[in-house]
Amino acid sequence: MMGARHAVSRRGFVGGLATAVGYLGLKPDGELWAQGGPPRAGLAPLAAPRRQDYDSLAKLASNENPYGPSDLVLKAMSDAFKYSNRYGYPDGDIQEAIAKHHGVDPDNILLGAGSSEILEVVGLAFLETGQKVVGVEPTYGTVYQQATSIRADAIRVPLLEDFRQDIPGIIKATNRNYRDVGFVYLCNPNNPIGRIITAQEVRQVLDSIPEDMPVLIDEAYHHFIDDPAYATSVPYVLEGRPVIIARTFSKISGLAGMRLGYAVAPRELIQRMRPYSTGTVNALVKWGGVAALNDTETNERVKRVNRELRTKAIAELEGLGYSVIPSETNFFMVHIRRPVQPVITAFREKGVLVGRPFPPMLDYLRVSVGTADEMSRFSTAFKQVFTTAAASRSQ
Ligand SMILES: Cc1ncc(COP(=O)(O)O)c(C=O)c1O
Repeated sequence: MMGARHAVSRRGFVGGLATAVGYLGLKPDGELWAQGGPPRAGLAPLAAPRRQDYDSLAKLASNENPYGPSDLVLKAMSDAFKYSNRYGYPDGDIQEAIAKHHGVDPDNILLGAGSSEILEVVGLAFLETGQKVVGVEPTYGTVYQQATSIRADAIRVPLLEDFRQDIPGIIKATNRNYRDVGFVYLCNPNNPIGRIITAQEVRQVLDSIPEDMPVLIDEAYHHFIDDPAYATSVPYVLEGRPVIIARTFSKISGLAGMRLGYAVAPRELIQRMRPYSTGTVNALVKWGGVAALNDTETNERVKRVNRELRTKAIAELEGLGYSVIPSETNFFMVHIRRPVQPVITAFREKGVLVGRPFPPMLDYLRVSVGTADEMSRFSTAFKQVFTTAAASRSQ
């Protein structure tokens, strides 16, 4: 009963949101100017940016792929335009292609309009009013925001001193409150930090909490990771553990604006989630997604260039005397040792969008890795912003 009520209210919410998005031609949270990023539950859209403003900015705020989809993916999407006027059409067998990619059955896959939809669907399916999701703070906000929007709540476990996730803390919080906990959220690697949860730590969580407790493992940045201590948690689905893996085509495949993500989970969990999903994935990105899965060469290139530019930017910042949290992703956090909001504004005035504040880490700046050109604009702006700030403090 509870589930049905959520499904209805969600449909109303998503419908209204989709309409607003359609009119304004931007993502629902309007975060483009604050952080950028995919839909965040419960936030109203802001005014659309002017196109010429948008094009001229260095966009290092939303952990996007600055290169966009590969030629192969673009061609697949262009070829699918002919289905624009259809409701039913060949969809490239996207669900089967994803299942094959992971070695699971199509029944283990649920598509979403971005992985944001998957995160929301998990909240709707597994959280009752008054229940709690357990995860760390800071982490990717959608899950907690959505919990709040359905009058559930989050138990936010602080990060460790080295900014890794406190695995014993998550286990303890889950076990102490297990009657009230709807699911556990592990963002791996964690946005906005960039650090991984090791394969061994994921196993420790699964082995230490009630065996039927759902665990949502958000692998949005999976493709950027080099650390051999990390492993995807998809194999747990084959073991029948109650895990839901969220993946996206927004990051490595450069398809954020096209909205395609998915869940990999045991069939029973997918069945619980399905009533809450909208099924609004568009024809183009279904074909684009299939092409992107096969385009391993481009994925490798994006990963390599991202690593090179991230390493260079971090070395430069460290050379300037600023410490940076190690990152396995397409973003990193630099300790700027002063309040971040005025710094974000100063960057914006120089045409560089950087990440929004992430409480409680209000003296850290999150920077997404852009193109080489965008990173050199960031570097120039950084030196200007910090020299000016130092100069004005010494007056
Ligand atoms: C950790 C994490 N999960 C999920 C998402 C949602 O991405 P999308 O809805 O575009 O798939 C993001 C986007 O920034 C993210 O950082």
